[in-house]
Amino acid sequence: MALLVKNIGTIVGIDTARRNRICGADMDSMERIDNAWLTTDGDRITGFGSADSMPSEVGYEVLDAGGGVLFPSYCDSHTHIVYAGSREQEFLDKIHGLSYEQIAARGGGILNSADRLHNTSEDELYSQAMERVREVMAMGTGAIEIKSGYGLTTEDELKMLRVIRRIAQSTPMAVRATFLGAHAFPRGYKGREQEYVDLICNTMLPAVAAEGLAEFVDVFCDRGFFTLEHTEQILLCAAKYGLRAKIHANELDFSDGVQLGVRMGALSVDHLESSGAAEIEALKGSGTMPTLLPGAAFFLGMSYPPARDMIAAGLPVTLASDYNPGSSPSGNMRFVTSLASIRMRMTPTEALWAATLNGAAAMGIADDYGSITVGKVANFFITKPLPSFEFFNYAYNTPLIDRVVLAGEIIN
Ligand code: NIG
Ligand code: FE
Repeated sequence: MALLVKNIGTIVGIDTARRNRICGADMDSMERIDNAWLTTDGDRITGFGSADSMPSEVGYEVLDAGGGVLFPSYCDSHTHIVYAGSREQEFLDKIHGLSYEQIAARGGGILNSADRLHNTSEDELYSQAMERVREVMAMGTGAIEIKSGYGLTTEDELKMLRVIRRIAQSTPMAVRATFLGAHAFPRGYKGREQEYVDLICNTMLPAVAAEGLAEFVDVFCDRGFFTLEHTEQILLCAAKYGLRAKIHANELDFSDGVQLGVRMGALSVDHLESSGAAEIEALKGSGTMPTLLPGAAFFLGMSYPPARDMIAAGLPVTLASDYNPGSSPSGNMRFVTSLASIRMRMTPTEALWAATLNGAAAMGIADDYGSITVGKVANFFITKPLPSFEFFNYAYNTPLIDRVVLAGEIIN
């Protein structure tokens, strides 16, 4: 189907230079066109321009944007959207004063989700996850990375990854899967942590690779979770199966996880609430995307990563939702970009690039996603008319998304 979107107030997020990521000071500039049109054919963007150059409507399905703003869809490069049930009891525990680590130490947290997942069938898990998938698509997400990590046994990790594959096959979003067997030590491994790491390397990774279920591997490398040595062993082993590294690093403490990620050629290091000059120095000049998850800092009441210092150092700052039941029960990327502005002083332009093109880069899909560019996949959403582009992040709770197009199809 060929689509002509007419009467667009402004197209934002245009990248004619086809950059593979956007770094430092460049993050605050963006091409845009007022009074615009855009065409698609099949799943691709075929053209756009200002109203005076609009093609004839003949042969197109016409979508009237009503003067709204057309944004490239968000590329959410860090989620745990496949999980069973929810954990609002721990939300109450937090209100009563327990920390994330104290809840985890009591057997709550990730192990609580692992128990629920174990007792949930693959079909049920799929249908719970699909509700969240539909929710995030309606909120503007068009590409998503999804992690395993609530299985923690070979069988249950494979169950999660098969659900992720089913999601990939049944949504118009781009989906990338990450194996996160090293999310927590299962019960019974206290004092025998190395045995679980060996199980990941010798049994889980070969099984994941045999079914081709993941593109990436991730490790929760942090205080009380996996050590640097565990992390390096798992990443080296995963590399043999062609799985590129991502790391949950520096959420709870300074761990050298960022430096390890850079040294191992990780595609991204994520969280980074505890980071300073040494982490920023390590990231400079590397291919590793610093991925910030302000929704988790917000929900857990933690300090926010130093985004301004990272941008000043020329880094390609990336934003993702971390959608998960324990530290960020929301996949609303627009709210993530507003938080980035409010709490990390990123401009709405910087936040948009961090949540689109740089998110795509953190999933290895920037050639096809993350900006309004001829030839890229036609993933975009259209807002109600706005007084300005900045209004979208400023009025962060007003429902403003009107239409959603993914892979060239109008889905909302
Ligand atoms: O990214 N930090 C580790 N993993 C998740 C939380 C998972 C959970 O609590 O269920 C995160 O914050
Ligand atoms: Fe996470």
